[in-house]
Amino acid sequence: MTIALIAHGGAGRWRPGSDDDATEGLRAAVEAGRAILAGGGRALDAVCATVVMLEDNPIFNAGTGAVLNFDGFCELDACVMESREARVGAVCGLQRVRNPVLVARKVMEETDHVMLTGDGAQRFARVMGFPDHDPVTPERRADWFDKRNRIDDVLGEHALKMRRFLKDHPEYAGGTVGAAAVDGQGVLAAATSTGGVTLKMVGRVGDSPFPGAGNYASPHVAASATGTGEFVLRSLATRAISERVEQGASLADAVAAVLGRMGEDFDADVGLIAVGRLGTPVALHRTKDMPHAFFSGAGAVVSRMRA
Ligand code: GLY
Repeated sequence: MTIALIAHGGAGRWRPGSDDDATEGLRAAVEAGRAILAGGGRALDAVCATVVMLEDNPIFNAGTGAVLNFDGFCELDACVMESREARVGAVCGLQRVRNPVLVARKVMEETDHVMLTGDGAQRFARVMGFPDHDPVTPERRADWFDKRNRIDDVLGEHALKMRRFLKDHPEYAGGTVGAAAVDGQGVLAAATSTGGVTLKMVGRVGDSPFPGAGNYASPHVAASATGTGEFVLRSLATRAISERVEQGASLADAVAAVLGRMGEDFDADVGLIAVGRLGTPVALHRTKDMPHAFFSGAGAVVSRMRA
């Protein structure tokens, strides 16, 4: 079996001058996953190690450095899934944890449930030994003040302007992180982690923690989505990729078709990464940027801002 892994750092428009930080952060994260796979390790361990590095890197919108909601605090969502027996775990609305992806994995491995939310998820994290961690960085706090001030300027006139504002300034929307991998045993796994979208309503949950929407692993495909989660949820995008591959499409055609459909249906600002059993990673996006990195087999890690 050919080992392979691909990771993304979020679909959107990156701030000018930050390209190298994004691609180097992704390269390092994929190298960490690659070391696990090359040593005979599991795809699940590889995608978790990759996403942990992205969560710990404050330039990405996940874990430390995640964006703030309308009230000015983080609500973190994450999901892990493995193709074996469709094992899956997810968390939503964590406020004070360093690595939500590892809490999601604990939900999968230590409970009878698939998803825990809010206070329950936070309490579970503490019981599992995850220490208190404030993910809010000074940069994200300053950003939040700036955006709140600018949003207040337009919200009073017409709420639709908030949507227009975010469309004109897509760098203000989030940049989820995610990884998908296949290991030497042909097992596939995917992990996705996010702070959601900037200025989201308190309690809003996007696509990332939902299996089949923002994150999915089947015997055919492991995939992670990024961008405005409401469109991904309404499309069940990662599950749709797997179904198309199951029906005989190539992975590249399946990802292109699902992304194209989201364009037709919603003009969605989204991106997708996927890897199949044969180990060929695919990345496509409808946004200006989607930093991502990948490797397959003995090939070198490729890291770039757009596909
Ligand atoms: N795609 C991440 C979110 O919308 O929450």
